[in-house]
Amino acid sequence: MEERKKRIFSGIQPSGELTLGSYMGAIRNWVQLQHEYDCLFCIVDEHAITVRQEPAQLRKRSVAQLAQYIACGLDPEKNIMFIQSHVPQHAELAWILGCYTQFGELSRMTQFKAKSQQHADNITAGLFTYPVLMAADILLYQADLVPVGADQKQHVELTRDIAVRFNGVYSDTFVLPEPFIPKLGARIMSLDDPSSKMSKSVPDGCINLMDQPEVIMKKFKRAVTDCETAVKFDQANKPGISNLLTIYCAATGKTMDEAEAEFAGQGYGVFKPAVGEAVVELFRPIREEADRIMKDKAYLEGVYKTGAQRAQYLANKTLSKVQRKIGFVAR
Ligand code: TRP
Repeated sequence: MEERKKRIFSGIQPSGELTLGSYMGAIRNWVQLQHEYDCLFCIVDEHAITVRQEPAQLRKRSVAQLAQYIACGLDPEKNIMFIQSHVPQHAELAWILGCYTQFGELSRMTQFKAKSQQHADNITAGLFTYPVLMAADILLYQADLVPVGADQKQHVELTRDIAVRFNGVYSDTFVLPEPFIPKLGARIMSLDDPSSKMSKSVPDGCINLMDQPEVIMKKFKRAVTDCETAVKFDQANKPGISNLLTIYCAATGKTMDEAEAEFAGQGYGVFKPAVGEAVVELFRPIREEADRIMKDKAYLEGVYKTGAQRAQYLANKTLSKVQRKIGFVAR
């Protein structure tokens, strides 16, 4: 018998535009992973509302994000692609798992501490319990691997702790997931502050997947560098140039040595627009395809409805098992 493929779950919040960071750090890797694993790729709108969202924007972005996933090369036949709020089992399991999570554990989450500082006037219970919802996302599907950026590793570890605890009390129920930080995953930093991660919540210094070529070029020309002239990778002393080199290599497939050689003796005035061009060319076909798919509302609706059905089928298996084990009356 054929061995069951390992299962992957991952998701991105529709709380802003997809960025060069989301592409290089996540989606591009998912495109590779879809061939080897059984994958679920989610648009986690329930996570997005942990901070205030504009309703019309959230709705539009959730569907646009799906179109962009597809335009990047994720195949909705091969993978289960869906919108989190369409599968109510996420919220149901999250409630249950919250009763197996300690207040102290959630208080120690680094991202909660950071976000509650950023949103000091709106520290909701949802922001606090967000890692439990993420645990539900992962455990519902018995995912083996969870591709995430380094900032999410702590949440996957918490997910494991919750799963171990639950399994310990009620016998084996959940597969223990592992964070999966892909080898290829380039860490892209902000163009206006190379010490912080490129993030959609900080739009300055951020390249969006759907940005027009002239916007991309302008952002690269303005990128923060240093007061030297050499295009050399030196993380400690030249973080801006090093970030641009990382982007250039990731966009063109060239090695760092090749890139450095190409720009030897040339100043930043040549280098910065060259990085911009490389990204423009990388994103051009994706943007055009996403625009085309966005016009086909019926197709997109079909994709997310089918995705939700397939996800619900799997989610229900786990949720019913959990409900039975903890003593809920069968429906
Ligand atoms: N919390 C993740 C982030 O902000 C997004 C996310 C939600 C996620 N649920 C997930 C990622 C489950 C992987 C698996 O980046």
